[in-house]
Amino acid sequence: MSTSLFPVIQRVPRRDAEPVVKWAGGKARLVPQLTPLFPDTWGRYYEPFLGGAAMFLALQPGGAVLADINPDLVTLYQVIQEDVDALITDLGRHRYEKNYYYAVRAQDPARLSRVQRASRTLYLNRTCFNGLYRVNRRGEFNVPFGRYTNPTIVAPDRLRAVSAALDGCTVACVDYATATATAGPGDLVYFDPPYFPLTRTSNFTSYTKGAFGPDDQRRLAEAFDDLTRRGVACVQSNSDTPFIRDLYAHHRIDTVTAHRAISRDPATRGTVTEVVIRNY
Ligand SMILES: C[S@@+](CC[C@H](N)C(=O)[O-])C[C@H]1O[C@@H](n2cnc3c(N)ncnc32)[C@H](O)[C@@H]1O
Repeated sequence: MSTSLFPVIQRVPRRDAEPVVKWAGGKARLVPQLTPLFPDTWGRYYEPFLGGAAMFLALQPGGAVLADINPDLVTLYQVIQEDVDALITDLGRHRYEKNYYYAVRAQDPARLSRVQRASRTLYLNRTCFNGLYRVNRRGEFNVPFGRYTNPTIVAPDRLRAVSAALDGCTVACVDYATATATAGPGDLVYFDPPYFPLTRTSNFTSYTKGAFGPDDQRRLAEAFDDLTRRGVACVQSNSDTPFIRDLYAHHRIDTVTAHRAISRDPATRGTVTEVVIRNY
């Protein structure tokens, strides 16, 4: 598929910006391997499984449509976009201290102001064990206090850089299918879903209260094919497993090499290959 007829909204980052959250499946270290697999030009950029936003921040495409189903995470990005100074001020009141951490963790995010909710998410992310976002079946953040020497809770420069990158973008807390409904010919969608597990015990899919199981992977493959029929360029990262290769057998599949630290299962710790599926 040629996308050369469509304008490049923006490809060159306005300023360096790195992820503000540590996120399971974060792509920061894979950016150099992934970028050459992206098309040279595209219309609008969509990233509907945003997580830590590593790919978006590396590319910084203007007018992007960004989404994640996690309401704490999306509120954080929206507040960074709309009122980064208020967030930086609120972050300043947090302390790296065990009892304080559990008191903040026990807060009901729905009862906080948007700035306080964003500040809580970032504080917990920077100070929790392993920098992991995990919720229980009731959707409550349940990661224990983490041991760090001197964790950075406020990084004003990084937050301001991310705020600048988000300027003019849309960030929504919706399912990926809703987020990509407006994509049309020449647009680009980068899918980075919760991965299909490599082994039965290695499934980290608790970003939200519902898991992302085999039926969700099948529904995603149908959405990928639907976008293909609509002339949308699609790229997807996923685990290198027979199930995923089979679902996308009619598309182009490359591999990249990733280092996975977040895993209880030694079989999936260390170096693994991941697939990069493309419809162009
Ligand atoms: C592998 S992570 C993305 C990591 C990201 N690329 C990064 O660099 O940090 C997958 C994300 O998909 C989100 N998610 C799970 N189910 C979703 C759905 N149905 N629609 C949109 N986002 C979803 C999770 O909340 C999680 O943040």
